[in-house]
Amino acid sequence: MKIIVVGGGGREHAIIKKLKENKQVEEIFALPGNGGIAADATCVDIGAKDIPAIVDFAVKAGIDFAVVAPDDPLVLGAVDALQAKGIKTFGPNKKAAIIEGSKAFSKDLMKKYNIPTASYETFTDMEAALSYIENCPIPVVVKADGLALGKGVIIAETKEQARQAVRDMMEDKVFGESGSKVVIEEFLTGPEVSVLSFTDGKTVIPMVSSMDHKRALDGDKGLNTGGMGTIAPNPYYTDEIAKVCMDTIFKPTIEAMNKEGRTFTGCLYFGLMITEKGPKVIEYNCRFGDPETQVVLPLLESDLLDIMLKIYHGKLDEAEVKFADKNACCVVMASEGYPQKYETGFEITMPADKNIYVAGAKLKDGKLVTGGGRVLGVTETADTLKGAIDAAYETVKSVNFENAYFRTDIGQRALMAERK
Ligand code: AMP
Ligand code: GLY
Repeated sequence: MKIIVVGGGGREHAIIKKLKENKQVEEIFALPGNGGIAADATCVDIGAKDIPAIVDFAVKAGIDFAVVAPDDPLVLGAVDALQAKGIKTFGPNKKAAIIEGSKAFSKDLMKKYNIPTASYETFTDMEAALSYIENCPIPVVVKADGLALGKGVIIAETKEQARQAVRDMMEDKVFGESGSKVVIEEFLTGPEVSVLSFTDGKTVIPMVSSMDHKRALDGDKGLNTGGMGTIAPNPYYTDEIAKVCMDTIFKPTIEAMNKEGRTFTGCLYFGLMITEKGPKVIEYNCRFGDPETQVVLPLLESDLLDIMLKIYHGKLDEAEVKFADKNACCVVMASEGYPQKYETGFEITMPADKNIYVAGAKLKDGKLVTGGGRVLGVTETADTLKGAIDAAYETVKSVNFENAYFRTDIGQRALMAERK
């Protein structure tokens, strides 16, 4: 089988490594991939958003199966375009990807179908948004409606900050058209849990839960990033909470999308907050999370390609989806200065026999050099969470590049929760 994986980060590297475990796989092409992914797949210089070029390549290369991993091409309709040419594809179509593509859509869906989430109002008129803020409790959360590279969420501690966020999004268009509509919502508190799930629109199978670490600095301080590390499973996600989530969130969401004529197939990511009033949805993503995938897939014992093919054929109920009863930790190594200014082009040396997922790196004169903010993620698994954390930090020591920066406390909050 010949496969393409659209995307070029650590998440795609983890998907590719897992797909390669299936003996039927002859060749994987990564579009565009990166210098590190090149060790595991053939990288083709086609951008993940260049849908006509992706389809053209897939047809000419005689591709049997396509996996579209990032949000942008999914929301733009890459799955529809590939399937229109008869290529079997994993991922939601454009109509279903709106669950991530528009926060106003996903909030209205939850309200209509009674799926627990923060209360909210949606605005397309700036003056109305500004006057709403006058009477709402603080802190309050201001969100740009569309995709904003994970940066379109402002937690405002004061009314002035909330007003500023609204003006930035609606008047100054700092997130472009993504901000022409804003959602203003209630601030919730509680531990956050990421649950990725497989679904064919009929069956929904949650994967092992995980915990992201979004802030740049130790102690959850500093700026928001794409994610500085993850652990799985998440100790806050108990069996009891898992059951509540299945009954009040996962199944109702799949059914709601069906009722709306927007059947979702692929990986649906539930970003949850475990509040005092029970689990609530913070966000949906229409795809695998990054860097959640880098701890979830290494724990998957079943065959990923088989699961994806079963989803394509609407037979997920026949797939085996089994996770190891173990723990995983992924420590992201970034370029010093990320998520703001940073330098790249430094040579990377790392062991070849470890689970290292490369995100931002390129090949230069045959050598792997840094090429992005998040450079790579080091994942280790072990019988205990502490074992996985210690092993990941041990492997981090054997990875070297100039200006490397990583958090030193990935998994520590989870360890404390475990001890409670
Ligand atoms: P999102 O881009 O929707 O994942 O939001 C980014 C982060 O903002 C989340 O992971 C939460 O930590 C935080 N956040 C979003 N919505 C809320 C909310 N209603 N209450 C508290 N925190 C929130
Ligand atoms: N790690 C969060 C995300 O993938 O959106």
